[in-house]
Amino acid sequence: MKETFNSKIGAIAAAAGSAVGLGNVWRFPYILGEDGGGAFLLLYIICMLFIGVPVMISEFVVGRMSGKPVATAYSSLVGDKRWQLIGVGGTLVAFLILAFYTIVSGWTLYYCYLSLTGQLSGLDEPQIKEVFTQTAADPVTCIIWMIIVTTITAAIVARGVTAGIERVSKILMPILIILIVLIAIRAMTLDGGMEGIVFMLTPDFEKINSKAFFDALGQAFFSASIGMGCMTTYGSYISKQSNIAGTAIWVSMIDFFIAFMSALMIFPCVFAFGISPSEGPGLVFVSLPNVFNQMPMGQLFQTMFFFLLFIAALTSVISLLEVVVTFVMERFGLKRRAATVASAIAITIPGIICAFSSATFDFFDKITASVMMPLGAIFIVIYVVHLLGRDRVRGEFEAHGKKSKIFNVYFFLVKYIVPVAIALIFINGVIDWIM
Ligand code: TRP
Repeated sequence: MKETFNSKIGAIAAAAGSAVGLGNVWRFPYILGEDGGGAFLLLYIICMLFIGVPVMISEFVVGRMSGKPVATAYSSLVGDKRWQLIGVGGTLVAFLILAFYTIVSGWTLYYCYLSLTGQLSGLDEPQIKEVFTQTAADPVTCIIWMIIVTTITAAIVARGVTAGIERVSKILMPILIILIVLIAIRAMTLDGGMEGIVFMLTPDFEKINSKAFFDALGQAFFSASIGMGCMTTYGSYISKQSNIAGTAIWVSMIDFFIAFMSALMIFPCVFAFGISPSEGPGLVFVSLPNVFNQMPMGQLFQTMFFFLLFIAALTSVISLLEVVVTFVMERFGLKRRAATVASAIAITIPGIICAFSSATFDFFDKITASVMMPLGAIFIVIYVVHLLGRDRVRGEFEAHGKKSKIFNVYFFLVKYIVPVAIALIFINGVIDWIM
Protein backbone atom coordinates (compact mmCIF):
# COMPACT_ATOMS: atom_id res chain seq x y z
CA MET A 1 0.00 0.00 0.00
CA LYS A 2 1.10 3.52 -0.66
CA GLU A 3 2.32 5.43 2.36
CA THR A 4 0.08 8.27 3.49
CA PHE A 5 0.09 10.35 6.61
CA ASN A 6 -2.20 8.92 9.23
CA SER A 7 -4.22 11.95 10.11
CA LYS A 8 -5.07 15.45 9.04
CA ILE A 9 -2.87 16.85 11.76
CA GLY A 10 -0.15 14.49 10.62
CA ALA A 11 -0.26 15.89 7.10
CA ILE A 12 -0.13 19.45 8.38
CA ALA A 13 2.63 18.66 10.85
CA ALA A 14 4.78 16.95 8.24
CA ALA A 15 4.37 19.65 5.60
CA ALA A 16 4.94 22.28 8.27
CA GLY A 17 8.01 20.29 9.28
CA SER A 18 9.35 20.75 5.79
CA ALA A 19 8.39 24.41 5.63
CA VAL A 20 9.58 25.42 9.07
CA GLY A 21 13.30 25.30 9.32
CA LEU A 22 16.38 27.41 8.92
CA GLY A 23 14.44 29.41 6.36
CA ASN A 24 12.38 30.86 9.20
CA VAL A 25 14.90 31.25 11.97
CA TRP A 26 18.14 31.77 10.09
CA ARG A 27 17.30 33.08 6.61
CA PHE A 28 14.24 35.24 7.18
CA PRO A 29 15.81 37.54 9.81
CA TYR A 30 19.05 37.96 7.95
CA ILE A 31 17.34 38.86 4.67
CA LEU A 32 14.95 41.17 6.52
CA GLY A 33 17.94 42.85 8.13
CA GLU A 34 19.74 43.26 4.81
CA ASP A 35 16.67 44.69 3.13
CA GLY A 36 16.03 47.27 5.80
CA GLY A 37 13.29 45.92 8.08
CA GLY A 38 9.58 46.75 7.98
CA ALA A 39 9.29 47.36 4.25
CA PHE A 40 10.57 43.87 3.59
CA LEU A 41 8.12 42.37 6.06
CA LEU A 42 5.25 43.98 4.20
CA LEU A 43 6.45 42.71 0.82
CA TYR A 44 6.96 39.29 2.31
CA ILE A 45 3.40 39.11 3.56
CA ILE A 46 2.08 40.17 0.14
CA CYS A 47 4.20 37.55 -1.64
CA MET A 48 3.19 34.81 0.76
CA LEU A 49 -0.51 35.56 0.66
CA PHE A 50 -1.03 36.13 -3.05
CA ILE A 51 1.68 33.95 -4.52
CA GLY A 52 2.97 31.49 -1.93
CA VAL A 53 -0.32 30.05 -0.71
CA PRO A 54 -1.79 29.48 -4.19
CA VAL A 55 1.43 27.84 -5.36
CA MET A 56 1.47 25.56 -2.34
CA ILE A 57 -2.13 24.53 -2.98
CA SER A 58 -1.23 23.83 -6.61
CA GLU A 59 1.60 21.56 -5.60
CA PHE A 60 -0.61 19.65 -3.18
CA VAL A 61 -3.20 19.24 -5.93
CA VAL A 62 -0.70 17.74 -8.35
CA GLY A 63 0.91 15.56 -5.70
CA ARG A 64 -2.25 14.10 -4.32
CA MET A 65 -3.98 13.71 -7.68
CA SER A 66 -1.05 11.80 -9.13
CA GLY A 67 -0.06 9.99 -5.98
CA LYS A 68 3.51 10.32 -7.19
CA PRO A 69 6.64 12.19 -6.12
CA VAL A 70 7.67 15.17 -8.19
CA ALA A 71 9.97 13.12 -10.42
CA THR A 72 6.96 11.67 -12.26
CA ALA A 73 3.90 13.47 -10.87
CA TYR A 74 3.61 16.07 -13.62
CA SER A 75 4.25 13.74 -16.53
CA SER A 76 2.02 10.93 -15.29
CA LEU A 77 -1.12 13.07 -15.02
CA VAL A 78 -1.00 14.22 -18.62
CA GLY A 79 0.91 11.33 -20.17
CA ASP A 80 3.59 13.61 -21.54
CA LYS A 81 7.18 12.86 -20.63
CA ARG A 82 8.30 16.44 -21.22
CA TRP A 83 6.71 17.47 -17.95
CA GLN A 84 9.29 15.37 -16.15
CA LEU A 85 11.43 18.47 -16.55
CA ILE A 86 9.76 19.92 -13.47
CA GLY A 87 10.98 16.86 -11.60
CA VAL A 88 14.48 17.16 -13.03
CA GLY A 89 14.63 20.88 -12.24
CA GLY A 90 13.24 20.36 -8.77
CA THR A 91 15.80 17.68 -8.03
CA LEU A 92 18.57 19.98 -9.13
CA VAL A 93 17.25 22.73 -6.87
CA ALA A 94 17.04 20.32 -3.94
CA PHE A 95 20.61 19.29 -4.64
CA LEU A 96 21.90 22.86 -4.62
CA ILE A 97 19.92 23.85 -1.53
CA LEU A 98 21.14 20.80 0.34
CA ALA A 99 24.71 21.95 -0.25
CA PHE A 100 24.45 25.02 1.95
CA TYR A 101 21.49 23.94 4.04
CA THR A 102 23.34 20.94 5.48
CA ILE A 103 26.23 23.25 6.35
CA VAL A 104 24.03 25.66 8.28
CA SER A 105 22.28 22.69 9.92
CA GLY A 106 25.73 21.52 10.91
CA TRP A 107 26.40 24.92 12.51
CA THR A 108 23.27 24.56 14.65
CA LEU A 109 24.41 21.17 15.86
CA TYR A 110 27.90 22.49 16.50
CA TYR A 111 26.45 25.42 18.46
CA CYS A 112 24.41 22.94 20.45
CA TYR A 113 27.66 21.18 21.32
CA LEU A 114 29.45 24.47 22.10
CA SER A 115 26.74 25.63 24.47
CA LEU A 116 26.41 22.23 26.11
CA THR A 117 30.12 22.30 26.91
CA GLY A 118 29.88 25.90 28.12
CA GLN A 119 32.07 27.34 25.39
CA LEU A 120 29.64 30.14 24.64
CA SER A 121 29.00 31.09 28.25
CA GLY A 122 30.34 34.35 29.58
CA LEU A 123 31.61 35.63 26.23
CA ASP A 124 31.08 39.25 25.30
CA GLU A 125 29.71 40.46 21.99
CA PRO A 126 33.02 40.62 20.02
CA GLN A 127 34.03 37.19 21.31
CA ILE A 128 30.72 35.66 20.27
CA LYS A 129 31.20 37.14 16.84
CA GLU A 130 34.70 35.72 16.68
CA VAL A 131 33.38 32.20 17.40
CA PHE A 132 31.06 32.43 14.43
CA THR A 133 33.66 33.93 12.10
CA GLN A 134 36.03 31.11 12.93
CA THR A 135 33.35 28.46 12.51
CA ALA A 136 32.25 29.68 9.12
CA ALA A 137 35.81 30.14 7.90
CA ASP A 138 36.95 26.67 8.89
CA PRO A 139 36.04 24.17 6.15
CA VAL A 140 37.02 21.17 8.26
CA THR A 141 34.55 21.99 11.05
CA CYS A 142 31.86 22.77 8.48
CA ILE A 143 32.42 19.53 6.59
CA ILE A 144 32.53 17.29 9.66
CA TRP A 145 29.22 18.62 11.01
CA MET A 146 27.67 18.61 7.57
CA ILE A 147 28.52 14.92 7.19
CA ILE A 148 27.00 14.17 10.59
CA VAL A 149 23.78 15.94 9.54
CA THR A 150 23.69 14.15 6.20
CA THR A 151 24.21 10.76 7.83
CA ILE A 152 21.40 11.29 10.33
CA THR A 153 19.08 12.48 7.55
CA ALA A 154 19.93 9.54 5.33
CA ALA A 155 19.25 7.10 8.16
CA ILE A 156 15.73 8.53 8.52
CA VAL A 157 14.95 8.85 4.82
CA ALA A 158 16.10 5.27 4.19
CA ARG A 159 13.33 4.03 6.49
CA GLY A 160 10.60 5.86 4.58
CA VAL A 161 9.19 9.23 5.26
CA THR A 162 5.82 8.99 6.89
CA ALA A 163 6.50 6.92 10.00
CA GLY A 164 9.49 8.78 11.32
CA ILE A 165 8.72 12.31 10.22
CA GLU A 166 5.18 12.41 11.38
CA ARG A 167 6.07 11.37 14.91
CA VAL A 168 9.09 13.63 15.30
CA SER A 169 7.32 16.70 13.89
CA LYS A 170 4.26 16.36 16.07
CA ILE A 171 6.22 16.29 19.32
CA LEU A 172 9.15 18.59 18.76
CA MET A 173 7.69 21.43 16.73
CA PRO A 174 5.41 22.68 19.51
CA ILE A 175 8.35 22.69 21.94
CA LEU A 176 10.37 24.80 19.53
CA ILE A 177 7.53 27.30 19.23
CA ILE A 178 7.24 27.68 23.00
CA LEU A 179 10.96 28.20 23.33
CA ILE A 180 11.03 30.85 20.61
CA VAL A 181 8.21 32.73 22.31
CA LEU A 182 10.06 32.63 25.65
CA ILE A 183 13.30 33.89 24.14
CA ALA A 184 11.45 36.60 22.23
CA ILE A 185 9.92 37.87 25.47
CA ARG A 186 13.31 37.98 27.17
CA ALA A 187 14.84 39.72 24.16
CA MET A 188 12.16 42.39 23.96
CA THR A 189 12.68 43.31 27.58
CA LEU A 190 16.40 43.93 27.05
CA ASP A 191 17.62 47.51 27.32
CA GLY A 192 17.28 48.96 23.85
CA GLY A 193 15.46 45.86 22.62
CA MET A 194 12.37 47.77 21.55
CA GLU A 195 14.37 49.53 18.87
CA GLY A 196 14.60 46.17 17.13
CA ILE A 197 10.85 45.82 17.12
CA VAL A 198 10.47 49.29 15.66
CA PHE A 199 13.01 48.41 12.97
CA MET A 200 11.16 45.31 11.84
CA LEU A 201 7.64 46.70 12.09
CA THR A 202 7.91 50.20 10.65
CA PRO A 203 7.83 50.10 6.88
CA ASP A 204 10.19 52.61 5.36
CA PHE A 205 8.56 53.02 1.97
CA GLU A 206 11.77 54.20 0.39
CA LYS A 207 13.13 50.74 0.91
CA ILE A 208 10.44 49.13 -1.22
CA ASN A 209 12.33 48.51 -4.42
CA SER A 210 12.81 45.74 -6.93
CA LYS A 211 15.60 44.13 -4.95
CA ALA A 212 13.51 43.91 -1.79
CA PHE A 213 10.60 42.50 -3.77
CA PHE A 214 12.85 39.96 -5.45
CA ASP A 215 14.28 38.89 -2.11
CA ALA A 216 10.83 38.71 -0.49
CA LEU A 217 9.53 36.50 -3.26
CA GLY A 218 12.55 34.22 -3.02
CA GLN A 219 12.24 34.07 0.74
CA ALA A 220 8.54 33.17 0.50
CA PHE A 221 9.37 30.29 -1.83
CA PHE A 222 12.29 29.13 0.21
CA SER A 223 10.46 29.30 3.48
CA ALA A 224 7.36 27.51 2.25
CA SER A 225 9.40 24.85 0.37
CA ILE A 226 7.53 25.60 -2.85
CA GLY A 227 8.35 26.01 -6.52
CA MET A 228 10.51 22.91 -6.86
CA GLY A 229 8.30 19.95 -6.08
CA CYS A 230 8.96 19.33 -2.43
CA MET A 231 5.33 20.04 -1.59
CA THR A 232 4.22 18.07 -4.64
CA THR A 233 5.97 15.05 -3.18
CA TYR A 234 4.45 15.70 0.25
CA GLY A 235 1.07 16.23 -1.39
CA SER A 236 1.23 12.67 -2.63
CA TYR A 237 1.30 11.51 1.00
CA ILE A 238 -1.81 13.49 1.97
CA SER A 239 -4.88 11.28 2.28
CA LYS A 240 -8.02 11.90 0.22
CA GLN A 241 -9.96 12.80 3.37
CA SER A 242 -7.89 15.91 3.97
CA ASN A 243 -8.84 19.32 2.72
CA ILE A 244 -5.83 20.39 0.68
CA ALA A 245 -6.52 24.10 0.52
CA GLY A 246 -7.03 24.12 4.28
CA THR A 247 -3.82 22.20 4.80
CA ALA A 248 -1.87 24.69 2.69
CA ILE A 249 -3.32 27.66 4.55
CA TRP A 250 -2.47 26.13 7.91
CA VAL A 251 1.05 25.30 6.85
CA SER A 252 1.63 28.81 5.53
CA MET A 253 0.28 30.41 8.67
CA ILE A 254 2.47 28.30 10.92
CA ASP A 255 5.43 29.04 8.69
CA PHE A 256 4.80 32.77 8.80
CA PHE A 257 4.20 32.79 12.53
CA ILE A 258 7.54 31.14 13.24
CA ALA A 259 9.43 33.44 10.89
CA PHE A 260 7.81 36.44 12.52
CA MET A 261 8.53 35.20 16.04
CA SER A 262 12.13 34.50 15.07
CA ALA A 263 12.53 38.08 13.95
CA LEU A 264 10.93 39.25 17.21
CA MET A 265 13.51 37.23 19.04
CA ILE A 266 16.53 38.29 17.01
CA PHE A 267 16.10 42.01 16.28
CA PRO A 268 15.83 43.14 19.88
CA CYS A 269 19.18 41.41 20.51
CA VAL A 270 20.65 42.93 17.38
CA PHE A 271 19.83 46.43 18.60
CA ALA A 272 20.46 45.86 22.29
CA PHE A 273 23.97 44.57 21.60
CA GLY A 274 24.85 46.91 18.77
CA ILE A 275 25.09 44.27 16.04
CA SER A 276 24.56 45.33 12.42
CA PRO A 277 21.15 44.24 11.10
CA SER A 278 22.79 43.53 7.75
CA GLU A 279 25.25 41.13 9.32
CA GLY A 280 24.29 38.44 6.78
CA PRO A 281 24.07 34.65 7.23
CA GLY A 282 25.71 34.79 10.66
CA LEU A 283 22.98 36.97 12.17
CA VAL A 284 21.25 34.38 14.36
CA PHE A 285 24.57 32.92 15.52
CA VAL A 286 26.07 36.25 16.55
CA SER A 287 22.97 37.79 18.09
CA LEU A 288 21.28 35.10 20.18
CA PRO A 289 24.16 33.85 22.34
CA ASN A 290 24.25 37.37 23.83
CA VAL A 291 20.71 37.12 25.15
CA PHE A 292 21.26 33.66 26.56
CA ASN A 293 24.16 35.02 28.57
CA GLN A 294 21.68 37.38 30.20
CA MET A 295 19.01 34.82 30.97
CA PRO A 296 18.71 32.73 34.10
CA MET A 297 19.63 29.16 33.12
CA GLY A 298 20.85 30.65 29.85
CA GLN A 299 23.14 27.77 29.07
CA LEU A 300 20.31 25.28 29.34
CA PHE A 301 18.03 27.40 27.16
CA GLN A 302 20.79 27.94 24.66
CA THR A 303 21.52 24.23 24.33
CA MET A 304 17.83 23.45 23.98
CA PHE A 305 17.35 26.20 21.46
CA PHE A 306 20.13 25.09 19.14
CA PHE A 307 19.07 21.48 19.51
CA LEU A 308 15.47 22.23 18.56
CA LEU A 309 16.62 24.45 15.72
CA PHE A 310 18.65 21.52 14.53
CA ILE A 311 15.55 19.30 14.66
CA ALA A 312 13.57 21.90 12.71
CA ALA A 313 16.37 21.98 10.17
CA LEU A 314 16.44 18.20 10.08
CA THR A 315 12.78 17.85 9.11
CA SER A 316 13.47 20.27 6.26
CA VAL A 317 16.63 18.49 5.14
CA ILE A 318 14.63 15.27 5.15
CA SER A 319 12.10 16.76 2.76
CA LEU A 320 14.84 17.99 0.46
CA LEU A 321 16.66 14.67 0.46
CA GLU A 322 13.33 12.94 -0.14
CA VAL A 323 13.00 14.81 -3.44
CA VAL A 324 16.43 13.65 -4.55
CA VAL A 325 15.91 10.08 -3.34
CA THR A 326 12.52 9.58 -4.98
CA PHE A 327 13.99 10.95 -8.20
CA VAL A 328 16.89 8.50 -8.07
CA MET A 329 14.50 5.64 -7.25
CA GLU A 330 12.27 6.38 -10.22
CA ARG A 331 15.03 7.18 -12.68
CA PHE A 332 17.48 4.42 -11.91
CA GLY A 333 15.07 1.83 -10.57
CA LEU A 334 16.90 1.62 -7.25
CA LYS A 335 15.41 0.53 -3.94
CA ARG A 336 14.90 3.27 -1.33
CA ARG A 337 17.90 2.23 0.72
CA ALA A 338 20.38 2.15 -2.17
CA ALA A 339 18.98 5.38 -3.60
CA THR A 340 19.39 7.09 -0.22
CA VAL A 341 23.01 6.05 0.17
CA ALA A 342 23.83 7.16 -3.38
CA SER A 343 22.07 10.51 -2.95
CA ALA A 344 23.62 11.19 0.44
CA ILE A 345 27.09 10.64 -0.96
CA ALA A 346 26.34 12.77 -4.01
CA ILE A 347 25.11 15.76 -2.00
CA THR A 348 28.27 16.01 0.08
CA ILE A 349 30.17 17.08 -3.04
CA PRO A 350 28.48 20.47 -3.58
CA GLY A 351 28.41 20.75 0.22
CA ILE A 352 32.17 20.51 0.40
CA ILE A 353 32.49 23.16 -2.31
CA CYS A 354 30.28 25.50 -0.26
CA ALA A 355 32.35 24.83 2.85
CA PHE A 356 35.43 26.11 1.04
CA SER A 357 33.85 28.97 -0.85
CA SER A 358 31.44 31.38 0.76
CA ALA A 359 30.82 32.94 -2.64
CA THR A 360 29.47 29.60 -3.89
CA PHE A 361 27.42 29.31 -0.72
CA ASP A 362 25.82 32.72 -1.32
CA PHE A 363 25.34 32.02 -5.00
CA PHE A 364 23.50 28.71 -4.41
CA ASP A 365 21.38 30.41 -1.76
CA LYS A 366 20.33 33.19 -4.10
CA ILE A 367 20.02 31.34 -7.40
CA THR A 368 17.78 28.63 -5.96
CA ALA A 369 15.42 30.80 -3.93
CA SER A 370 15.13 33.87 -6.11
CA VAL A 371 15.62 32.42 -9.58
CA MET A 372 14.96 28.71 -9.94
CA MET A 373 12.02 28.37 -7.57
CA PRO A 374 9.99 31.31 -8.96
CA LEU A 375 10.58 29.93 -12.44
CA GLY A 376 9.48 26.49 -11.30
CA ALA A 377 6.35 28.02 -9.80
CA ILE A 378 5.40 29.63 -13.11
CA PHE A 379 5.54 26.24 -14.79
CA ILE A 380 3.57 24.64 -11.97
CA VAL A 381 0.68 27.12 -12.14
CA ILE A 382 0.59 27.04 -15.94
CA TYR A 383 0.38 23.30 -15.69
CA VAL A 384 -2.42 23.36 -13.17
CA VAL A 385 -4.47 25.94 -15.06
CA HIS A 386 -3.95 24.84 -18.63
CA LEU A 387 -3.15 21.15 -18.52
CA LEU A 388 -5.24 19.94 -15.62
CA GLY A 389 -7.92 22.56 -16.08
CA ARG A 390 -10.59 23.92 -13.83
CA ASP A 391 -12.74 20.82 -13.44
CA ARG A 392 -10.06 18.36 -12.46
CA VAL A 393 -8.55 20.82 -10.00
CA ARG A 394 -11.91 21.53 -8.45
CA GLY A 395 -12.48 17.79 -8.12
CA GLU A 396 -9.27 17.48 -6.14
CA PHE A 397 -10.21 20.46 -3.96
CA GLU A 398 -13.48 18.80 -3.07
CA ALA A 399 -12.30 15.20 -2.89
CA HIS A 400 -13.00 15.07 0.83
CA GLY A 401 -16.68 15.58 0.05
CA LYS A 402 -17.32 19.23 0.83
CA LYS A 403 -17.87 22.15 -1.51
CA SER A 404 -14.90 24.50 -1.55
CA LYS A 405 -15.61 28.13 -0.85
CA ILE A 406 -12.28 29.47 -1.90
CA PHE A 407 -11.81 27.53 -5.11
CA ASN A 408 -12.79 30.41 -7.37
CA VAL A 409 -10.48 32.84 -5.63
CA TYR A 410 -7.67 30.33 -5.84
CA PHE A 411 -8.22 29.66 -9.51
CA PHE A 412 -8.36 33.34 -10.35
CA LEU A 413 -5.08 33.91 -8.55
CA VAL A 414 -3.21 31.08 -10.23
CA LYS A 415 -4.64 31.87 -13.62
CA TYR A 416 -4.00 35.61 -13.75
CA ILE A 417 -2.15 37.03 -10.78
CA VAL A 418 0.53 34.53 -9.84
CA PRO A 419 2.29 34.10 -13.20
CA VAL A 420 2.21 37.81 -14.03
CA ALA A 421 3.36 38.89 -10.58
CA ILE A 422 6.20 36.40 -10.51
CA ALA A 423 7.29 37.40 -14.01
CA LEU A 424 7.34 41.10 -13.12
CA ILE A 425 9.16 40.71 -9.83
CA PHE A 426 11.51 38.26 -11.41
CA ILE A 427 12.49 40.31 -14.46
CA ASN A 428 13.06 43.46 -12.42
CA GLY A 429 14.95 41.53 -9.81
CA VAL A 430 17.24 39.80 -12.26
CA ILE A 431 18.01 43.04 -14.07
CA ASP A 432 18.81 44.61 -10.73
CA TRP A 433 20.96 41.72 -9.63
CA ILE A 434 23.02 41.56 -12.81
CA MET A 435 23.50 45.31 -13.18
N1 TRP B 1 11.45 25.56 3.85
C1 TRP B 1 12.57 25.07 4.58
C2 TRP B 1 12.99 26.16 5.55
O1 TRP B 1 12.35 27.15 5.66
C3 TRP B 1 13.70 24.63 3.72
C4 TRP B 1 13.25 23.72 2.68
C5 TRP B 1 12.77 22.46 2.85
C6 TRP B 1 13.14 23.99 1.33
N2 TRP B 1 12.42 21.93 1.66
C7 TRP B 1 12.62 22.86 0.72
C8 TRP B 1 13.46 25.09 0.61
C9 TRP B 1 12.38 22.85 -0.63
C10 TRP B 1 13.23 25.08 -0.72
C11 TRP B 1 12.69 23.97 -1.33
O2 TRP B 1 13.98 26.05 6.19
